Amino acid sequence: MPSDKSKVTLQEINEKTVRSICNLSVTDNQKQFVAPNAVSISEAYFSKVAWFRAIYADDDPVGFVMLYDDSEKPEYYLWRFMIDARYQGKGYGYRAMELMIEHVKSRPNATEFTTSVVQADGGPQPFYEKLGFKLTGEYDDGEAMMRLVLPFPSC
Ligand SMILES: CC(C)(COP(=O)(O)OP(=O)(O)OC[C@H]1O[C@@H](n2cnc3c(N)ncnc32)[C@H](O)[C@@H]1OP(=O)(O)O)[C@@H](O)C(=O)NCCC(=O)NCCS
Repeated sequence: MPSDKSKVTLQEINEKTVRSICNLSVTDNQKQFVAPNAVSISEAYFSKVAWFRAIYADDDPVGFVMLYDDSEKPEYYLWRFMIDARYQGKGYGYRAMELMIEHVKSRPNATEFTTSVVQADGGPQPFYEKLGFKLTGEYDDGEAMMRLVLPFPSC
């Protein structure tokens, strides 16, 4: 069983692990905030801009993340993000997002990391605010847009 001190990593999904990632799930109330992982992986299969990874705590799969990665644009969009209900509240989501921020910083032309949130009780907006994301005031498909401005890479 992973603990609060477990090392969080982002790992590629393969034929052996895909079932365990599809079996990860959020609470019933949180299902309004994120699509099931099986749906996200299916969408990624048909997308040229989806970059996705499983989130691990030591050797256990605990979550899933998917990025809209279009290297021609300065904006990288966090498309899906979830930590399984059994593993929430242990800091894994925060640490996985720190890894995602480092990943986005390493991508061509990246100056902004964006996401969108459903503004409902228990929604993830305060979580993203802790990481420095701010509401932009824009809405997309009923979801509030949030943005983290990344420092420009040094020369
Ligand atoms: C949002 C989510 C990814 C957070 O993952 P997590 O591993 O539970 O978060 P952490 O334990 O790393 O929490 C980091 C901090 O954010 C806070 N936090 C996490 N989720 C929060 C929420 N929904 N509301 C308020 N604060 C929250 C924690 O209390 C913690 O604060 P602290 O450092 O002051 O103690 C997870 O709850 C989840 O998968 N939710 C359902 C799916 C979802 O909403 N995905 C986002 C789609 S845009």
